[in-house]
Amino acid sequence: MKNRALSGAEKYIVTGGARLYGEIEVSSAKNSVLPLVACSLMVNGEVFLSNCEPASDAVNMLAIVRSLGGRCGFENGGIYLDCRGVRRHEVGEELTGRLRSSVFILGALVSRFRRAEISYPGGCDIGPRPIDLHTSGLRSLGVRVCENGERLVCDGRDIRGGELHLPMPSVGATENLVMAAAGTEGHTVIRGAAEEPEIVDLQNFINACGGRVRGAGSSRIEIDGVKELHGTSFAPSGDRIAAGTYMIAGAICGGEITVRGCESGHLATLTGLLRRSGAIVAERTDGVTVISDGRLRAPGRIETSPYPGFPTDLQSPMTALAAGAKGTSYIIENLFENRFRHIPELMKMGADITVCGRAATVRGRKLHAADVEAKDLRGGAALVLAALGCEGRSTVAGAAHIDRGYFGFDRKLAALGADVRRVSALDM
Ligand code: UD1
Repeated sequence: MKNRALSGAEKYIVTGGARLYGEIEVSSAKNSVLPLVACSLMVNGEVFLSNCEPASDAVNMLAIVRSLGGRCGFENGGIYLDCRGVRRHEVGEELTGRLRSSVFILGALVSRFRRAEISYPGGCDIGPRPIDLHTSGLRSLGVRVCENGERLVCDGRDIRGGELHLPMPSVGATENLVMAAAGTEGHTVIRGAAEEPEIVDLQNFINACGGRVRGAGSSRIEIDGVKELHGTSFAPSGDRIAAGTYMIAGAICGGEITVRGCESGHLATLTGLLRRSGAIVAERTDGVTVISDGRLRAPGRIETSPYPGFPTDLQSPMTALAAGAKGTSYIIENLFENRFRHIPELMKMGADITVCGRAATVRGRKLHAADVEAKDLRGGAALVLAALGCEGRSTVAGAAHIDRGYFGFDRKLAALGADVRRVSALDM
């Protein structure tokens, strides 16, 4: 058993050049599971979320639930929760600092207790991640939100259904407001809502618990609040971002891999780009097969945007692909300001990239092995993929970032034939 306290010193050692063959199954989407765990705080009964792995963001979210008095854990391949005993409505700085999704607690706690108090949330350093849309949405529902710079206190004694409009389709704000409204008397309409599949999961979960939400997946969501949600067993959708990451790995390395457990329709924009790069992508009923000879063309212009556009979470893995492909690509990051932190690291591997504001020009060339460092979750995964695609031995430090969203990343890639292992300070 590795000493988790040493996780800061853990790194991936990657010897690139192997082709990837075989099948890989993704688990439930991290970005669905986190809000569903928060939403379980509102449920008066037992909840089981199937097919969940203990990636560290999920582990930290459960720690928050436990700190409030809920019972929960990883059991039988999923997450079990019983929040009937929750009495507290305050979460401390140490726990909220661990992950951005701690902000979901607000909507759930306000809905259940009419009160919530949290410190400002942490998460990946990918640029400013304000929560003004969360707080202004809650205010529109009659919640008094008091921010003193460090703590955020919500007083929801006068909460009621209402009409609100999000000026930007924030995924987290949409989810928070759906939760707040689902347990609040009255009718709520959210316009300008985010349309991500994870929001459809949240709607389906709430409805499986006896709630009344409709419209998720479109920009207009309607909610009729109910007095109580009851327990349920629920299967969140497969992780489209993890699936996309493995698809890109297959394209970069060459070979033939099938990624199961995800809906190919959720990955349509990625599929188009991989085909443009010369990979063959076959859509299956429960996944996707990627066949590639590893000699890719530049994918061209890639612009991130809210769903159904190209996901910002796959921008860094696609930058890794473009860096080693033949030709020039233009990558425009529209969602987060600081989501190019993998680029200086890719340049240590020989990548030829110029960044100007939110745009990166990537002139593809043969990359070489190097010692690099993950600075955030998806950027870290991108560096592992780049290392897999070039000859020689690379190291990717900062493995803890990757752990946030990929459980057993090294083992899963190794099962496809990659030469990758994760080592801690104990092994070095
Ligand atoms: C979620 C995902 C994350 C993904 C992102 C965009 C989870 C747990 N995380 O993050 O993986 O990269 O969606 O698809 O689901 N914004 C504001 N004010 C706010 C909230 C957001 O200005 O109050 C801005 C952000 O700075 C960003 C944009 O809105 O520019 C999108 O952010 P948002 O959709 O809220 O992302 P998250 O929910 O944090």
